[in-house]
Amino acid sequence: MENISFEKRDNVAILKISRPKFLNALNSETLRELEMAIDDIQKDKDIYALVITGEGNKAFVAGADIKEMSNMSVFEAREFSILGNRVFRKIEGLEIPTIAAVNGYALGGGCELSLCCDIRIASENAKFGQPEVTLGITPGFGGTQRLARIIGTSRAKELIFTGRMIDAKEAEKIGLVNKVVPQESLMDEVMDLANSIAKNAPLAVRMCKVAINRGIDVDIETGIQYEAEIFAHCFSTEDQKDAMAAFLEKRKIDKFKN
Ligand code: CAA
Repeated sequence: MENISFEKRDNVAILKISRPKFLNALNSETLRELEMAIDDIQKDKDIYALVITGEGNKAFVAGADIKEMSNMSVFEAREFSILGNRVFRKIEGLEIPTIAAVNGYALGGGCELSLCCDIRIASENAKFGQPEVTLGITPGFGGTQRLARIIGTSRAKELIFTGRMIDAKEAEKIGLVNKVVPQESLMDEVMDLANSIAKNAPLAVRMCKVAINRGIDVDIETGIQYEAEIFAHCFSTEDQKDAMAAFLEKRKIDKFKN
């Protein structure tokens, strides 16, 4: 792959968007590569968490590629948005937890990429924004939908209507990022977080994510019924038996299996 690098550290995968000359802007080729990488990750049962970040220390992703978009026809723009949305839905739909390590500008499609991850950790130099209206367009990779779900409609509308860029501190204050850390310790902090997730029972973690994501789209009664199903399902796993026995016998278990 030209524009994506992929690495596995134990049970954690790290995907890096790598077009530093263009501040990691997402063109169609990069989106297609990202999709292939996500499809591979989806099939790999030994990956328990995914980290997405950008190459260099200036940008996470500075948006969809403006050069590529500048001459698009209406038809091509629709295809481009469909492609981006399909890839981002795949990321959102991964059962394993995903963490965006936001190492700089996360603008437009870059902010949207971070939004389809479960958790966002930002370095102090990170900047977020949906500047599309300053380019005569709307967000095209889910920004009008996910931003409001994460920070609330009023704040999302303000950011999208103005195109204003916010710094990492403000992003943390409004709940857009979980934590802000010094630039030099970003990847260490993110890997610690990913490893602290990956050491837990993988099936239980995946079920929790699916339940939370499904629950947001349904009424509470349906969501709670689903939770009862997955809770019961865990009792068919070796991990539940081993972990509970270990607790009662006051010993630690080595590694979860399921
Ligand atoms: N697309 C294509 N190229 C981009 C880019 C983008 N989104 N963002 C930056 N680049 C390129 C620049 O054109 C420049 O290339 P050249 O050296 O060949 O001129 C290179 O990356 C470095 O960028 P700058 O010189 O502009 O760097 P800077 O430090 O002065 O500014 C910045 C940084 C504020 C992030 C600025 O680059 C910028 O405003 N970028 C565009 C951000 C943006 O509007 N993103 C939203 C795109 S629309 C979108 O994403 C729609 C959607 O939802 C699908």
